[in-house]
Amino acid sequence: MCGIVGYIGHKDTASILLNGLKELEYRGYDSAGIALLENKNIEIFKAIGKIKNLEEKIKSGEAKATHPKEPANAKFTIGIGHTRWATHGKPTELNAHPHMGEYSYVVHNGIIENYKELKAELESAGHKFLSQTDTEVIVHLFEYYNNKLQDTKAAFKNTIERLQGAYSILLITKEESEKIFFFKHGSPLIIAKGDEEILFSSSDAPLIGLVSQVVYLEDGVGGIADSKGIEFFSDNYSWATLPTSKLTAQKNGFRFFMEKEIYEQSDVVSDSMIGRLSDDEILFDELDENILDGINEIKICACGTSYHAALTASYLFERLAKIRCSVEIASEFRYKEPLLTQETLFVVVSQSGETADTLEALKMAKDAGLKTIVVCNVDNSSMTRVADTTILTRAGIEKGVASTKAFSTQTVVLWIMALFFAKKRDIISKEDLQNEIHALREVPKSLMVDSDIHEKTKRLSKRYLHGHGFFFIGRDVFFPLALEGALKLKEISYLHAEGYPSGEMKHGPIALADTELFTIALMPQHLLYDKVKSNVEELSARDSTICAISPLDFELSDDFIKTQKTDHYMLEFFEMLVVLQLLSMEIAVRLENDVDMPRNLAKSVTVE
Ligand code: G6P
Repeated sequence: MCGIVGYIGHKDTASILLNGLKELEYRGYDSAGIALLENKNIEIFKAIGKIKNLEEKIKSGEAKATHPKEPANAKFTIGIGHTRWATHGKPTELNAHPHMGEYSYVVHNGIIENYKELKAELESAGHKFLSQTDTEVIVHLFEYYNNKLQDTKAAFKNTIERLQGAYSILLITKEESEKIFFFKHGSPLIIAKGDEEILFSSSDAPLIGLVSQVVYLEDGVGGIADSKGIEFFSDNYSWATLPTSKLTAQKNGFRFFMEKEIYEQSDVVSDSMIGRLSDDEILFDELDENILDGINEIKICACGTSYHAALTASYLFERLAKIRCSVEIASEFRYKEPLLTQETLFVVVSQSGETADTLEALKMAKDAGLKTIVVCNVDNSSMTRVADTTILTRAGIEKGVASTKAFSTQTVVLWIMALFFAKKRDIISKEDLQNEIHALREVPKSLMVDSDIHEKTKRLSKRYLHGHGFFFIGRDVFFPLALEGALKLKEISYLHAEGYPSGEMKHGPIALADTELFTIALMPQHLLYDKVKSNVEELSARDSTICAISPLDFELSDDFIKTQKTDHYMLEFFEMLVVLQLLSMEIAVRLENDVDMPRNLAKSVTVE
């Protein structure tokens, strides 16, 4: 995880770095820091928490340059910056980047897996370490080689050769203080050139509007940049043009981005359907007509909320397209030595397109010769550059760390995809297809926030914030929805919650049932209603506090949220999704938590 930026040029280096870091804050916000360099003058500033803390400290003059020996207020033409999501070492100033050696400074996104061995080796060679991070070894290793070889380029290359793990790195050194050394392996890094300036960033958002030419670096590509240009160590890179104007997200009068994004779902789901279905047909131009040739199975890989969308899709692929479908958590998939055959269509689902485990799973499938598809919300992200086919979800920028509209758009797109496959396989009747398309067209309506329901979740939140344990239960596609409801609550309320298939409660979890156990029961009318009802009755008989969400009255519930009667279970699914999102948000609001940037999390997880 983490975000890194770098700058060479004659503008206000500190402001450019700070603005860039603000754009990258979604990647982590435990601490931040910048290093500014000109000739032999260096200043380093660090602060715990969000970028605004760093900015305020610098403005107020409170942030002293952390490096002891240097004069302040010099003019700087080189700078590197970092926003951190802690992996090794607590989020303290000491562990914040940039990390320094005697005369060199580094920012790093990723994990150095062999840092312990390297650290031991360097310590025995006399290097003194200040932090508990893995990153610090990079700068010491560089100085070790530079002291030995008296050649910064060779020292940097030697350093890279010793590092294991995933990383993108920017390194500066007083030895050659006009240069930034860079390398990408596994974590994203973009280099951009403008008018007499060069910028680096973990994603293109900070670069849009500042420069037009960028290289999305491939793994294994590195080099050295200075005011005269860029020297790449290899020739596998190409320049691309960035869009000139940037999409920005505003709260538009809502209290939080998450709230705005919940309310936006109806619109973005409509956008995600454009060109993919007509009144009576599934179109999906992005999908090749022959995509299913030679395919007898679909495997979907994802993490977090995207994993829940994938799980939901697996029910739809099997039910509608009658094609075998399995779903794997990307971090598990990678190391289980999966058997990959070319009869499998490999689909990854990711809001960001950058999640390290999902990206690596995709690369594994690609290397094994499988056809690959990414369902993704960010064009030009790492996954869209690897997959054979990209299906964009058109949710717009999602700022809230707890994902909402990405999930609804992913689910709808995957549902349409299931129908596309059903048509291609010729196993869906005209009438059933019509019904499905009709239901799809109704989804935006089901996602509209009903003000009474929103009010109700506000009232319920008062009581639920005292809950010590929550079970979200449902069956069929309402099981992944239950998982998603529980995840939302955990993410922003910090309350313990579990999603469970309701039929499985009696095999253990029901032992927990008492008045302190809050059960959020998803009871759709059109899918196994009687079965779920029995499961909930069993919990009620054991005194669990029940909050039922259903279009049908249920007298045993302690609290009841009535949803609309519809004619398709997926419409119930989306309506209940909104209820769960609102409920978790309102509980978090009452607990006075940071709804958009909850503790310990990050929007994009680029470490495994
Ligand atoms: C992080 C985010 C989650 C997200 C997950 C997968 O954990 O906090 O909201 O669901 O990563 O991200 P992706 O971008 O691959 O969908």
